Amino acid sequence: MIAPKKITLTIDGKLCEGEAGQTILEIARTNGVVIPTLCYMKNLTPWGGCRLCIVEIEGSPKIVPSCTTPAQEGSKVNTKTDRLVGLRKATLELLFSERNHFCPMCQLNKGDCGLQHQGLAHGITGIRYPYLYPAMPVDVTAKYFGMDQNRCILCTRCVRTCDEQEGVHTLDVAKRGIKNQVVVDMNGTFGESTTCTQCGACVANCPTGTLFDKANAFRGQLVSCQQVLTTCTECSVGCGLKVFTKESRVVSVWGDPDSLVNKGHLCVKGRYQTWAEPRERIITPLIKGKPATWKEALAAIRKASDAAKKTERALLVAPRVTNETAQTIAKLAGKIGRIASYVGSNEAAFVAKPEYSANAMVKLPDADAIIIIGGQPSRDNGVVAATIRTTVRKRGAKLFIFLAPTTNLDQYANVSAPTPSQDESFWNDVAAKLAGVQRPAVVCGPDVTTADGKAVLARITKILADRSPLMVGVPVSANAMSLACSGIVPVENVGAWLAEKPVKFLHIVASDAPDGGARLLEDSAVAAQLKQAGCVVVQASYKSALTDAATVVLPAAIWCEKTGTVTNFEGRQLPVRSVLAVAGEAREDGTILESVFA
Ligand code: SF4
Ligand code: SF4
Ligand code: SF4
Ligand code: FES
Repeated sequence: MIAPKKITLTIDGKLCEGEAGQTILEIARTNGVVIPTLCYMKNLTPWGGCRLCIVEIEGSPKIVPSCTTPAQEGSKVNTKTDRLVGLRKATLELLFSERNHFCPMCQLNKGDCGLQHQGLAHGITGIRYPYLYPAMPVDVTAKYFGMDQNRCILCTRCVRTCDEQEGVHTLDVAKRGIKNQVVVDMNGTFGESTTCTQCGACVANCPTGTLFDKANAFRGQLVSCQQVLTTCTECSVGCGLKVFTKESRVVSVWGDPDSLVNKGHLCVKGRYQTWAEPRERIITPLIKGKPATWKEALAAIRKASDAAKKTERALLVAPRVTNETAQTIAKLAGKIGRIASYVGSNEAAFVAKPEYSANAMVKLPDADAIIIIGGQPSRDNGVVAATIRTTVRKRGAKLFIFLAPTTNLDQYANVSAPTPSQDESFWNDVAAKLAGVQRPAVVCGPDVTTADGKAVLARITKILADRSPLMVGVPVSANAMSLACSGIVPVENVGAWLAEKPVKFLHIVASDAPDGGARLLEDSAVAAQLKQAGCVVVQASYKSALTDAATVVLPAAIWCEKTGTVTNFEGRQLPVRSVLAVAGEAREDGTILESVFA
């Protein structure tokens, strides 16, 4: 690869180094020169709309936006002349006059608003223009966020984010002049949108109070929050999180921009569902539904456990616990009895012999064809779906989807076949469509382990035999592959597994699964086994039908109260950091298991 040509220019009298092709703003930033911006955002295509980043280039009569102007070798750039400062002030005053920026009533007041920050930085205390304040729509129909167009400065950061990062292009700008506004789909609402995935990326990237999180309304400014980097444990992707906390509460969750997995992007589960969803938390031990002390609960458990032979004891683990909890289980295995992790449909064979897809999230955007077999990333692994969408829509990759129900990815697919085809002409057509492809990626979900999935994979492998496709396997469950590596057998038919031997003592580690482990009860065989067992212990963070059915409930720490690591589908060992103190009397999963079995 040829290294980019180095260039040198002077900005505000400072000698600055950069690379040919970089903009003046990029070089200024890397050399510590501050130029005000509003519509610019790193990782989004520059738009040049707000005109706050204007600069003068000596020898040219024109004023240019630095965010869209490529830097030239040897040029002399000025960013802070009286003329530029005056124009910036006028621009800001026009923005303040246009819509209702009555800051005291705005959630972003006092530190989080880019417009307010620029107003203060430019010493604006009043404006010379009449206030227009047209009555603009407010949309609060989305579950986790709202949009108050009265605060919008039309910077289009949300539009570009939705298009370039989530890849769905729900948002755009419509109408003219003073009626110019951001619209959802064809001027609908978030609540009725069929394209919006509720990922919230547009909210995180909005510089004003237009797009706002509902759950953090007036919980405090992000600038005054503590920030901790940790990892999402809601699926096997392991996205990097930047968690904002204040006064023992989560205020907001953003993607970690430096994560090689998600590069700052998140899906709705990682951004909102872990903390903005109302759930009843369990913070004290319970015996038959009544609060108890840890001592009483452990004594009751010990009595029941001792009354059962080792072969009559079983431990079921949610495939989301940390690697450290898995190690604790491995250490205690001799004292426990039968052990398994309960995984999703067709996941047992998929994760039993893990083959990690090293660096898949870095490599996937370079693919010129993506073939999905037996997986539903839109439902299960939102950031993988976003990566696929943007690779197809923005970089022109072809898309083939086999053995998956129709999702919002299908509209971009060259071939979409929910059911397998034995028709040779169908496969000849697929081969023809893949003919010119050089860098294919095959993204497999759990259903690739079915007979149909294996048949489709064999066809695709044959077609791509000469092109060494990137093979990517993405489980649904967060840490199932790593648990399997630790010797914890993945089981999907839990009823049958329990029925293999009589169980008198059953301990279920539901951990912080959002459903509190209730999905186990969807299998009537499991429900029947629970009734037969003398003692059912459930360690869980949230109340559910399963905890209601338990003999003893032990309160477990949630994602932002744990420490340890998880291993994502690429094989990266990622840190899980404690962001908040453990609530009430809850304890971490491994600590609880040691108390029960050591
Ligand atoms: S929430 Fe996500 S999908 Fe919906 S409009 Fe915002 S960026 Fe687009
Ligand atoms: S909603 Fe926010 S991000 Fe979108 S154009 Fe308006 S101010 Fe910019
Ligand atoms: S893709 Fe998975 S790991 Fe990433 S934010 Fe969504 S649920 Fe969390
Ligand atoms: S930041 Fe350059 S025009 Fe808006």
